Amino acid sequence: MPTSINKQIESLREQLRYHSYRYYVLDDPDIPDAEYDRLHKQLIALEDENPELITSDSPTQRVGSTPLTSFDQIQHQMPMLSLDNVFSDDDVLAFNQRIQSRLNSEDAIEYVAEPKLDGLAISIRYEKGELIYAATRGDGSTGENVTQNIRTMQSVPLRLLGGNYPQVLEVRGEVFMPKAGFEKLNQQARENEEKEFANPRNAAAGSLRQLDPTVTAKRPLNLYCYAVGVVEGGVMADTHYEILQQLKDFGLPVCNEIKRVLGVDACVAYYEGILNKRDELPYDIDGIVYKVNAIELQRRLGFVARAPRWAIAHKFPAQEEISKIIAVDFQVGRTGAITPVARLEPVFVGGVTVSNATLHNMSEIRRKDVRVGDQVIVRRAGDVIPEVARVVPGSRKKLLAEIQMPTKCPVCESDVEQIEGEAIARCTGGLFCSAQRAEAIKHFASRKAMDIDGLGDKLVEQLVDENLIGSAADLYQLTIKDLSALERMGEKSAINLVNALAVSKQPKLSRFIYALGIREVGETTARNLANEFKTLAGIQGASYEQLIEVQDIGPVVAQHIVHFFQQAHNLDVINQLLDAGIEIQNVKQSESEVLEKTAFSGKTIVITGTLPNLSRDEAKDKLLAAGAKVSGSVSAKTDYLLAGDKAGSKLTRAEKLGVQVIDEAGMLAMLDK
Ligand code: IVH
Repeated sequence: MPTSINKQIESLREQLRYHSYRYYVLDDPDIPDAEYDRLHKQLIALEDENPELITSDSPTQRVGSTPLTSFDQIQHQMPMLSLDNVFSDDDVLAFNQRIQSRLNSEDAIEYVAEPKLDGLAISIRYEKGELIYAATRGDGSTGENVTQNIRTMQSVPLRLLGGNYPQVLEVRGEVFMPKAGFEKLNQQARENEEKEFANPRNAAAGSLRQLDPTVTAKRPLNLYCYAVGVVEGGVMADTHYEILQQLKDFGLPVCNEIKRVLGVDACVAYYEGILNKRDELPYDIDGIVYKVNAIELQRRLGFVARAPRWAIAHKFPAQEEISKIIAVDFQVGRTGAITPVARLEPVFVGGVTVSNATLHNMSEIRRKDVRVGDQVIVRRAGDVIPEVARVVPGSRKKLLAEIQMPTKCPVCESDVEQIEGEAIARCTGGLFCSAQRAEAIKHFASRKAMDIDGLGDKLVEQLVDENLIGSAADLYQLTIKDLSALERMGEKSAINLVNALAVSKQPKLSRFIYALGIREVGETTARNLANEFKTLAGIQGASYEQLIEVQDIGPVVAQHIVHFFQQAHNLDVINQLLDAGIEIQNVKQSESEVLEKTAFSGKTIVITGTLPNLSRDEAKDKLLAAGAKVSGSVSAKTDYLLAGDKAGSKLTRAEKLGVQVIDEAGMLAMLDK
């Protein structure tokens, strides 16, 4: 056997292991994916020519081809434990109290705080650095042998790195499916008319329990290690935190949100910090785990039943709860879009009581087969509007009628139309429909539009219902007398509102355009229109061909704009607004010249995290005014990431892609130049 081939093969394997480590453990690849693939192909070619040199720990040997008929049982040499759960800060304080009194200590305890990943526990055994088997937790004593499937996961090393690992090392961790991979998998399932997974946890479990490893290999599974089990022939560090660092050095992936914290207050602060960025994390978590850092203290504290005394899970409020649909109503939005809304038995979910949840549209209702009377899972994640996620499987005990979209608008009784290929049904009543009128006026008055202080949604509805206003222009005819006659409106509030209306009379052109509520014309598009055409007349007179030349405006938006200014009732409202004394602040010729000269002209910027002084909207305004394009997601085309406190996955991604990261002070300095 020519030793040079052997050496070449070993060198390729080492390079591939190193690059996997950089990618999965350090989250910092230093070669492009294509280069990795090239090395991988090179290794496959050499192994094909020299099959006698193939070893089971070669990076080419991840996917076995023999499906199993069932999983073998594996007895855990050291049991896999569970954790006690708590739900409040007080419970965490009590946990800390128990620890301090058991240890007879007044000093602040050092903990390690870790996200509690929402997947399934796994134990992976390495002997002499080589992956020998992997088992699920099962009942804690006996699990299932899922080695074939675990081997297919790119983030799991088949061979440990370096040489300092113990001869026998069992690592414990969580197998999970990142949110993006889950969405993609369900998207595929929908396209193939297959059953979708309810959540990333179920998808991870289903993927790991495949008898055919070629199926698992196609699933986007990931692993984070959080503990060790059996350790023989070597020593691990004497703190939990350092053990995790050692695992990283061996090439095992560990979650990079894990932190050492001193004392119980720091535990709770960590919890709050992670809860705030829960939605930005690329994976689902359902709480925080606190673990006493010193292994010696862990040993002294010991266990109760199947859970350690030295660790606890502090759970987040559940994002999904069960409730029952009492009725379905149909709401009409500003553009006439009709949204089915479920009225629910009130349920506490995601930290608030929810009694209405969106059903999105009719095709979602059909897809989920939701009916009035069903037991459903209500989901409220972060600030997102609560939604009916799905029907509780097997809960429908009697025949229930299908939900039907009304053929007439529930507010104005105009026909409802559903355009072929569009999911959304619309009321055709336009501004004849009082719901659309009210929504249009709410939008007109909103903070990013005309910013009319004191004109909230409820008040607009009241004014429309009492026929005091029919359009945005009518707002400027309201008198203190009209307003103070309204129920729940004092004279002082009436005066304030009339003043606020007067103050709003000099909007910037972009705000005015945005306030008009032209379909699909958001703030950015409005600003681009203002910068391009400088005056309302300019925008009004722009042709379809001129409009599609403007940054960010495609054929659909251009068509909406042209259509808007062709409608006589829209022109009437605009004229009435101008007659009422609205003075639009046009963009001066010189202003756009200035625009082109800033450090941000034409640059694409993403904003993330909490900035020390400015709100994100204020920062965005400044950047847009300086000619930047503000985008929501980081890509190779991003020029800068403006990152504040608690910047999450966007920061990681920007760093990975080499995007320049600036802070608020940096941005202001660049604007000043
Ligand atoms: S430690 C001795 N750390 O939670 C302690 N568990 O309720 C053993 N889990 O079965 C577990 N993230 O599946 C630990 N950072 C983390 C975790 C974690 C998720 C899961 C794990 C375990 C369950 C216990």
